[in-house]
Amino acid sequence: MNHSLHRPKVISVNSPSEAAEKTSNMIAEMLVATPRITLGLATGSTPIPVYQDLVQRHRDGTLSFAEATSFNLDEYLGLAGDHPQSFRAFMDEHLFRLVDMNVSRIHIPDGLATDLDAHTKAYEKAIAAAGGIDIQLLGIGSNGHIAFNEPGSSRTSRTRVVELTSDTIQANSRFFDRAEDVPRQAISMGIGTILEAKRIVLLATGPAKAQAVKDAVQGDANESCPASLLQYHPDVTFVLDAEASSLLQ
Ligand code: GLP
Repeated sequence: MNHSLHRPKVISVNSPSEAAEKTSNMIAEMLVATPRITLGLATGSTPIPVYQDLVQRHRDGTLSFAEATSFNLDEYLGLAGDHPQSFRAFMDEHLFRLVDMNVSRIHIPDGLATDLDAHTKAYEKAIAAAGGIDIQLLGIGSNGHIAFNEPGSSRTSRTRVVELTSDTIQANSRFFDRAEDVPRQAISMGIGTILEAKRIVLLATGPAKAQAVKDAVQGDANESCPASLLQYHPDVTFVLDAEASSLLQ
């Protein structure tokens, strides 16, 4: 494990759409250079314009996902992949169904897995067997979470079942009819898993992310802000709009 700290690179632009474009440019450039790339993908509202841009490039004929492999960060425990609020359904809707991904190379934790220990270990093994993740896309929760690694998650954590905090349940309740419907647990890649990606790009937009971004980029690297642990990785880029970067010095 890498024990030295690094200053994340910060790209700050005006609007959320510019931030998304910078992010999709990075991914598209890597995909063009290395068609057999392994992508680490994220859900949430923030990356939607990134996926829209990648889909547009595919429609324009400049981008193919045919040789790519993907691993998603997380999935709600208890939701089937075809449940409308599952992360699998999100990815199908925003990317997988709209591009030429080979379904056999799409990986996302199975929210209905029964042997969770075996399932999470197999997920880690599959990432390793694919040669590791070449570029991991991340968002950030307003409490600093990455994937579903809530505050207190260890730097060495691996793919596992996690409990969601009330903040996260509240924030994600906007996608469900009622807050009671939001699952209380998820399967999430660990911080240790994420830190093994060769390159990481974290996209954050809007004022609700400003404090978490400040803690992640300029705060001490510790478990109270999981995204601050990205400082242990030598190649992390934060792509921010003006609002998300507003508290950075
Ligand atoms: C979720 C996901 C994260 C995501 C975060 C922020 O809980 N597990 O991967 O980064 O929320 O989502 P949004 O982009 O919608 O603010």
